[in-house]
Amino acid sequence: MLTQLDIDLVRDSFSKASQDKDMLSRQFYERFFIVAPQTKMLFSGDLVKQQNMLHSVMSIIVNGLHEPEKLQPYLYMLGENHAKMGVRSRHYVQFFEVFIETILSLRENQKNAKLENAWREAFHIVQTVMQKATQESGLDLELLRA
Ligand code: HEM
Repeated sequence: MLTQLDIDLVRDSFSKASQDKDMLSRQFYERFFIVAPQTKMLFSGDLVKQQNMLHSVMSIIVNGLHEPEKLQPYLYMLGENHAKMGVRSRHYVQFFEVFIETILSLRENQKNAKLENAWREAFHIVQTVMQKATQESGLDLELLRA
């Protein structure tokens, strides 16, 4: 369960990591494409634009964690859009693992079990809604067969 302390830890570490937000997003995608190289073809190419969009939406998520029920409709819609773009349920697991790893690797943040757990709790909420949208879109099976 996501506690107030978790929310504070996530916010604080995200804000520190965002002092150089370009670096955060760049490092994230570099790692992500090593872990999930098959997803690279889903991206149209303008990674700088993508990095900015990801950072803006992550800010919305991090700042909305205290009222997750208000985030849900937005996350569901984001999940539906992603399903249409070819993103599948299993990609979220890789995506969040890499994002957490990137946040924890930054020297501004002290890597520790509490912080890591706080991010896992936060992403659990996000992942559950986005994966539900992917599954309900009916598109998830398509790629599992491929
Ligand atoms: C919390 C998780 C994620 C967030 C906040 C996020 C955010 C975004 C945003 C804001 C966009 C712009 C389009 C839109 O607004 O719908 C986008 C596009 C996209 N995202 Fe995500 N995303 C997430 C997870 C993922 C995952 C797991 C993948 C897996 C590969 C992915 C791949 C893509 C792709 C391929 C595009 C289209 C890029 C293009 O047109 O070049 N995203 N994402």
